[in-house]
Amino acid sequence: MGQINREIIEEVRAAANIVDVVGSSISLRKRGKNYLGLCPFHGEKEPSFTVSDEKQIFHCFGCGASGSVFDFLMRSRNLSFAEAVKELAKRFSISLPQRQETGQAKRMRELAERLRHVNELAAGYFNQVLLDKGTGEMALAYLQSRGMGPEVIQDFQLGYAPQSWDGLKRFLLSRKVDLKTAVQAGLLVKKSERDCYDRFRHRLMFPIKDMRGRTVAFGGRALDEENPPKYLNSPETPIFHKGRTLYGLATAREACRRHKEALVVEGYFDLLALYNQGIQQVVAPLGTALTLHHVRLLSRLAPQAVLVFDGDQPGMRAAMRSLELFLREKLPARLLALPEGMDPDDFLAREGREPFALLLEEARPLMEIFLEQSIAEYDGSVEGRLKVVRQVTPMLKLLDSRVTQEGYLRMLDQRLGVSEEVLWAELGLDRTSRVVTARGPKPDRATRIPAWEEEIVRILVHYPNWIPLLEKSSALDNFQVNPWVEVAGLLIKHYQEGGNLALSGLLMDLQDDDLKNVISGWSLESSPWREEAAHARLREYLEGIGSRRRQLQDELKRLREEIRAAERSQDQSRIAELLAELQAKKAALLAKEANDKANLSRGEMV
Ligand code: CTP
Ligand code: MN
Repeated sequence: MGQINREIIEEVRAAANIVDVVGSSISLRKRGKNYLGLCPFHGEKEPSFTVSDEKQIFHCFGCGASGSVFDFLMRSRNLSFAEAVKELAKRFSISLPQRQETGQAKRMRELAERLRHVNELAAGYFNQVLLDKGTGEMALAYLQSRGMGPEVIQDFQLGYAPQSWDGLKRFLLSRKVDLKTAVQAGLLVKKSERDCYDRFRHRLMFPIKDMRGRTVAFGGRALDEENPPKYLNSPETPIFHKGRTLYGLATAREACRRHKEALVVEGYFDLLALYNQGIQQVVAPLGTALTLHHVRLLSRLAPQAVLVFDGDQPGMRAAMRSLELFLREKLPARLLALPEGMDPDDFLAREGREPFALLLEEARPLMEIFLEQSIAEYDGSVEGRLKVVRQVTPMLKLLDSRVTQEGYLRMLDQRLGVSEEVLWAELGLDRTSRVVTARGPKPDRATRIPAWEEEIVRILVHYPNWIPLLEKSSALDNFQVNPWVEVAGLLIKHYQEGGNLALSGLLMDLQDDDLKNVISGWSLESSPWREEAAHARLREYLEGIGSRRRQLQDELKRLREEIRAAERSQDQSRIAELLAELQAKKAALLAKEANDKANLSRGEMV
């Protein structure tokens, strides 16, 4: 249905009271200002699922699920955002404007529907044939020999294309399907103007489904060696592009959300073998290298990815080639390198689930492995060192977190003997002015000192009336730590739009589940500060960020530029001098920050 305009969304949100919507699917009891029930997203005996009438959000203190009324529907019914809006609009009798569809768009939509329909029919047919006592026997036995039982067959709707030129064709005719559509879907191959035959014969069939579980194509594995290729896919069609689709999307979706990770394997059988062992957060590309589109799909599934690749040369090379894509999409990726010559299916069959789970736990960041491999090529010469530095800097530059950048530079410093400062210069970056991005706040919340930016946001969630103070001060320009830069911007935006803080709207704009969880948790807690203390703290932050800290940072920046210049002119003694000065300034900055924090925290907590 495409874009829905913002006003309609607001209208639906205003009409669809979250207490009614949630209450119609689980039973809620009033407790104080809020409503409480058993969380539908994880098994629990004691209710920790909270719905706030006032704030129009839900939040589970057990599993952390949280969000607006739309999030609730998306999650509980597996709908897209647009579908959730549509569904609620219908339920609350709000008419959505019928978008004028162009003739071209209408033809495309109808074609896509026809293609999906014929694919669905074919998937049902192949599955029936597989389970047919006579025709499917051999294929079924093959699946069994590879450890695949009735459950996997059903969950993936596996099938068998019989040894016949017209098995599917006759079935489709009996269902009154226009054979032209089946040719367009790639299920039949045109022989002449008037004749066509089955593309898939004597093959094990894997329906390839989109995110919503609709069959868009097939992969077929040959059941004898005489008929290569071993794997045959549907050709590219208007609804199927190999480079934009992953096998297993529909089955992996919920598990990825639960595990907060998505595994990537190379083959169909690898995926099934993992699924069989209860590791269901897994997808596979379809015989192509990973593309940027694949990585984007992955980032919609989970906040991090794990590549499970053969530890041999080509496997490693493929993993390294994908590093840049993950960096560009800012999706953290780790690599689980299996012993040489083994795919996940082999490994599980030989070693079992536990050793695999161990390897998974130990999987290391792709970047780290890339750096290690680059360093391993270092031959000890000056030129060799330069070569390594030149090889790794483009990747390091793509990192958007100063903290990780720093960690890797330190590693290079130690292993390669190139000083961190020189590496910063080589990156052409100024380390203090970089924006730090973390995907959601760190887990050890009790002992951690929160960033200034985080505290400001938390205060404003409790006291939204003060949002204009943030807006008027120049502090926002000095926000450096993500995700708070983004959240602060959203606070202002929603305050301006709603006149007060429309929290459920703000949550809708956030992508990251952990972040949503933290913010909705704050909004439901009682404020950790008394009002006057909160106000004083906020003012001090807003002013403090503008002054001394900024000044020190500007000085650091100037020093770094000088160091870079001295590096270029190879003036060793000047470099040493400047480095010493830099160290002193850094120490001063750190001391100032620690001191400010101590002053602010004294005696303020309730
Ligand atoms: N592939 C393909 N076309 C081929 C061979 C492979 O598209 N001719 C793709 C398939 O998606 C396959 C993956 O590459 O699953 C890995 O290929 P390979 O390692 O050869 O097969 P396995 O997955 O190990 O299959 P099996 O275990 O059935 O031998
Ligand atoms: Mn295999």
